[in-house]
Parts: sequence; structure tokens; C-alpha cells
Amino acid sequence: MPLTPEQAKTICAMPKAELHVHIEGTLEPELIFRLAERNGVKLPYANVEALRDAYAFTDLQSFLDIYYAGASVLLTEDDFCDMTRAYLARAAQDNIRHTEIFFDPQTHTARGVSIETVINGIERALAEAETQHGITSRLILCFLRHLSEEDALQTLETALPYFNSHGHRLIGVGLDSSEQGHPPTKFTRVFERCRALGLRIVAHAGEEGPPAYIYEALDTLQVERVDHGVRAIEDEALLERLAREKIALTVCPLSNVRLKVFEDMGQHTLHQLLKRGLAVTINSDDPAYFGGYLNENFLATFHALDMTMDDAYTLAQNSFEASFIIDSEKQALISELAQFRAANAT
Ligand code: HPA
Ligand code: ZN
Repeated sequence: MPLTPEQAKTICAMPKAELHVHIEGTLEPELIFRLAERNGVKLPYANVEALRDAYAFTDLQSFLDIYYAGASVLLTEDDFCDMTRAYLARAAQDNIRHTEIFFDPQTHTARGVSIETVINGIERALAEAETQHGITSRLILCFLRHLSEEDALQTLETALPYFNSHGHRLIGVGLDSSEQGHPPTKFTRVFERCRALGLRIVAHAGEEGPPAYIYEALDTLQVERVDHGVRAIEDEALLERLAREKIALTVCPLSNVRLKVFEDMGQHTLHQLLKRGLAVTINSDDPAYFGGYLNENFLATFHALDMTMDDAYTLAQNSFEASFIIDSEKQALISELAQFRAANAT
């Protein structure tokens, strides 16, 4: 059954958490050009339209090439703050109550931007959003898997002063960028060190890569959530394990369609994963590049798949349960969702 306008409105108004968004992927073309001008960075695109026209991706790598080019305009603390502020204003419109944000320090340190500039700029906007929009947040540092483990280890060392330190929201690490040919086991030692430091652990796995990469993320990196993970559908034993161990999948429907993981939204396996009892969540990944923020991901999914309002509440509940906030904060958000549901019961 297609969603009624009333149901679509309820899904949009529902309190929810976002657990898979790359802050560099929230950089809209207009802001890319504004920052390029401010910083005197020359872009290989004539204007906003020409850049947007280049967003015709064929796979993950074709997207990453443009995503890294877009991030080249970020130089100062203000740039990182402006980018993060714009995302949080948009998140507030989608009734996101809590967000866990990825950032890619190596993309910036390779250009001579210090990790301090990156983290301080992002943190400034996160603190501001807490008072301005009532949105809480955490930060997750992602290692780029196309680079070496040695590079990841060095990056970790430079970030150590910021982890779990007073006033900072940096709580964990993840693994992103080109998946094929860069299995999780390439990063065994750096994740071992992260676990010893007590950091929260996630990794992208099973987006383009095979189910074997999801097993490696679970067994070797010991992730607490799997980012994407949609290719788990190919392995019955893996599905059973993910459901049994309550390992959340941070699924990104518009991203999967734009990067041709699925031919169209009607082919997406999100509903099947949910019916198999997996802790599925919906997320936007790189909303400026994939045609929609969180609510647009919810609506596109619900319009294409035969899902109910019960499913929408389950997805929102999963997003709070799978978050890395302390139990009391988690319970407060879950109560808020329950109150919303009671007030909107038909
Ligand atoms: N996959 C891998 N790396 C990424 C992605 C993604 O979807 N978005 C930004 N970096
Ligand atoms: Zn991602």
C-alpha cells in the first residue's frame, strides 16, 4: 500500500537518530563554490550546474572521485564549522534528535590541513546545534581503506588527544572509502589498538564488498554496527548471526540506488532484512550527492517497498537503540518516540 499524505507527514515528524552520515558528503554544490571562492581554490567545474551534472555515478569509486574533489575546498576551521552547521540545520528540519557523524581526517591532512582544524571546526557547530536545535551528537573518525594501515595508525596517534576528552564528542572509529580489494583484515592492528583504547568500533562492509568482508568486520575488527551491510542478504548464516547478536546495520537506501548497489528502490532488500529480524536503520550517507537527506530516504523507501507505519516506528526505535549514547539519554529518546506514537495513533 502506498503511503497516504498523512502517513508521510507522520514519518517526517517522527523523532529519529541518524547513524551513518559523512560530514564531507553533506557539502552542497552551492557551499562548495562559496568556499572555493573564499579560499581561492580552483575547481575543475565551471559552475554549480556543471558540478551537479557530474553527479551521475556508476559505482562507489566514481562517486568517491568527485566527493574527494569537493572536499578540497575545506581549509579553515570556519569551513568545517559552516559545513557542519548547514547539515545540522537540515537535520533539525527532519526531526533528527541525535546524530553520529563520520569524518575523514586523512582527506584533509593529506592537503596540509591539521586534524585540529578539522575537529575544532566540526565540534564548534555540534556544540552550537545542541543549544540551537536540541540535537545531540557524536563524532566517528573514519580511516580511508584505500590508504595503508601505517597511515591509519599515524592518523590515530594524532587524534588521541581528542578521544573521549572533556567537551569533545569524538568517541569512535570507522572504515570507509573504496571497499573492493581493501578488506577489513587490512586494518587488523589499528582496530586492535582502538579497542584497547576503549573506542567504539564500526566499519563499512558489504556495500559493494562480499559477505566475507562483513564476517571480517565482525570477527577481526569486532565492530558494534555494520555500515551498509546489505550484501548480508546473500548469506543465510550471516543473517541469522546478525539478528541473534543484534548487530545494527546502518542502511542508506538512496546511496545504494545512486551507486548501483540495487537497480532501483523497488529492488532494495531493506524490508527483507527488517523482516528477518535484523536491527536495520535508515540513513542518508552523503545526502548532498545522493539526492536526499534522512526524511527523503525514509519516504523513497516507503514509497517503493510494501512497508507499514509499524515498520517506520521500528526503524526509528532501532536508530536510538543502536546509538552510542549512554543508557539514560537513550531511554529519554525512546520515551519521546513512544509519546509521539501515542499522540499520533489513528
Ligand atoms: N562508502 C564508502 N566510503 C564512503 C561512502 C560510502 O558510501 N561515503 C563516503 N565515503
Ligand atoms: Zn558511508
